[in-house]
Amino acid sequence: MTGAISSRRDGHVPVLLPEVLDHLAPRDGALYCDGTFGAGGYSAALLDAARTRVVGIDRDPDVQVHADRLGQRFPGRFTFLRGRYGSMDEALAEAGLEGVDGGVVLDLGVSSMQIDIPERGFSFSQDAALDMRMERSGPTAADIVNEFSEADLGAIIRDLGEERFWRRVARAVAAARREAPIESTGQLAAIVRRVVPTAKDRIDPATRTFQALRMFVNDELGELERGLDAAERIMADGARLVVVSFHSLEDRVVKVFLRQRSGGGARPSRHQPETAETGPQATFTLITRKPVVPGEAECQANPRARSAKLRAAVRTAAPAWAERAAA
Ligand SMILES: C[S@@+](CC[C@H](N)C(=O)[O-])C[C@H]1O[C@@H](n2cnc3c(N)ncnc32)[C@H](O)[C@@H]1O
Repeated sequence: MTGAISSRRDGHVPVLLPEVLDHLAPRDGALYCDGTFGAGGYSAALLDAARTRVVGIDRDPDVQVHADRLGQRFPGRFTFLRGRYGSMDEALAEAGLEGVDGGVVLDLGVSSMQIDIPERGFSFSQDAALDMRMERSGPTAADIVNEFSEADLGAIIRDLGEERFWRRVARAVAAARREAPIESTGQLAAIVRRVVPTAKDRIDPATRTFQALRMFVNDELGELERGLDAAERIMADGARLVVVSFHSLEDRVVKVFLRQRSGGGARPSRHQPETAETGPQATFTLITRKPVVPGEAECQANPRARSAKLRAAVRTAAPAWAERAAA
């Protein structure tokens, strides 16, 4: 497992790697899209497993060094595209790479490199500027915290952080910023800790507020919805979709998408005409009815794996629903 070893050296241990490979079933000559390239752990494993071709996509400019390394190791078989996986169909078309007949893989959330570099502002374990932008452009978490109304901030913390004490947090932030702008991760974490009690699980009370801001700053759920639609558009008959999520809100989006596209309201047969009652044809067949989760050994070795859930499906030959919606 060369990919896993090199990625570990670079600070990100790929989660559920053998299971991801198993569900993608790499084939010689097939094209795969790794929409969340990171340190390239999945891409490297796909390139190692067969004579595949892989396109890696990532919105974070810092991953370029990992992409360059992989390009040198697998000349002519690996392409890196800097951008968002939510528009992977456009990015691939622009690069002249159409017809993803192998599969698409998404490994959601942040990489260990992003968390571990304090200046990226994702983590409260060290004090740093409150940034959280994967792309290093656009509004920062500090902009949101200092400029959004108390009500809007509260809604973000409630909906994306699932924080029970969202009202208290929003009120405390609004009071603190009247004194001075909130500019650092340490400042924000201290404000949250003052008003949110530590639960039995001992998880830092600031965790849910930080998660909410990160998801908002990077529009993570919006990207996921657009990315699943885009994957449906570019995948050929028989290509596989594998998504690893780390959060119940993300997993719900994947579950609902796959349930709908694999049968909910779809026609039982491709030969049966579409009607108002039967709806469009299924574009996916589920491989996983229940999500695949890591075993105890992986969770022990890599605590980040603990909340991971993998869902997978195979593309059918039916036309993409997303195209119908866009038309
Ligand atoms: C969990 S890491 C992926 C790790 C990778 N599987 C590996 O083995 O090294 C997630 C990566 O996805 C990227 N990312 C998150 N959302 C993205 C999006 N909408 N478009 C492109 N890249 C995204 C992040 O910048 C990060 O590098």
